[in-house]
Amino acid sequence: MKPDDFAFFTKYIYDQSGIVLGADKMYLIESRLAPVARKFNLATIDLLVAQLRGPRDANLQREVVDAMTTNESFFFRDGKPFDQFKSLVLPQLLANRAAKKTFRIWCAAASTGQEPYTIAMILKEAATQLIGWRYEIVGTDLSSEALDRARNGVYTQFEVQRGLPIQLLVKYFKQQGDKWQIAPEIRAMVQYKNYNLLHDFGALGGFDVVFCRNVLIYFDQKTKGNILERIAKLMPPDGLLYLGGAETVLGVTEKFQPMPNQRGIYQLTPGK
Ligand SMILES: C[S@@+](CC[C@H](N)C(=O)[O-])C[C@H]1O[C@@H](n2cnc3c(N)ncnc32)[C@H](O)[C@@H]1O
Repeated sequence: MKPDDFAFFTKYIYDQSGIVLGADKMYLIESRLAPVARKFNLATIDLLVAQLRGPRDANLQREVVDAMTTNESFFFRDGKPFDQFKSLVLPQLLANRAAKKTFRIWCAAASTGQEPYTIAMILKEAATQLIGWRYEIVGTDLSSEALDRARNGVYTQFEVQRGLPIQLLVKYFKQQGDKWQIAPEIRAMVQYKNYNLLHDFGALGGFDVVFCRNVLIYFDQKTKGNILERIAKLMPPDGLLYLGGAETVLGVTEKFQPMPNQRGIYQLTPGK
């Protein structure tokens, strides 16, 4: 890719998705764009970039941005956050929402579905405590391709072996050839929507718990702060935010503060 095309392309991806691509990402960009170029019958990546510079082609734009997203995810990712969800966050929700018996959870970078389905399985396992409750799990992502996979709920052997306890695999998945499909009752617990975190997401409504894990790492400080501040607006005063292990609110926004002794969980800062 020519230096001028690289500069255009990285700005284009930043404007469309917030994803920052440094000079060291040239190889990544080229390897991810090659299949898109082939799909659109463009002989080279230079031609693909030329096409992007030209009149708007919504399909090409969507696929190019999609190709630059990293959709890596796995069930019960990092373990501990979901132990905390089961032993601390859920009991707190059940106590604090006992009058209304309702709560909403948002996975703001749901990718291929492992995170929202992990939460759904935990809630299913806690079904006896949730009798008479209404709750929703909403999963959003920028990548339509990842969301299609999430909606299908079909995973490879490798994917179900990463973090998913065997008893949950047996209980909630059905083998289909060499793949595994998650049970319809778990799939039905999650609503998926295509949402770009750069754009207004207020229409999604309020959320008691937000999982925004392993996506802020791709953004610069300004974008991180802006997204977190808009997430804060969707939460009640006792709302909780989950970030990924390599992410923090410190130095990014004062709207949230770490929950004492609970790594990865953040609460709203009173008065901010
Ligand atoms: C590494 S995955 C994280 C999946 C999951 N949260 C986890 O922790 O396993 C990052 C996801 O962020 C999504 N993403 C990147 N930029 C985004 C944006 N501007 N708006 C919404 N989603 C975005 C990507 O499509 C990708 O699926």
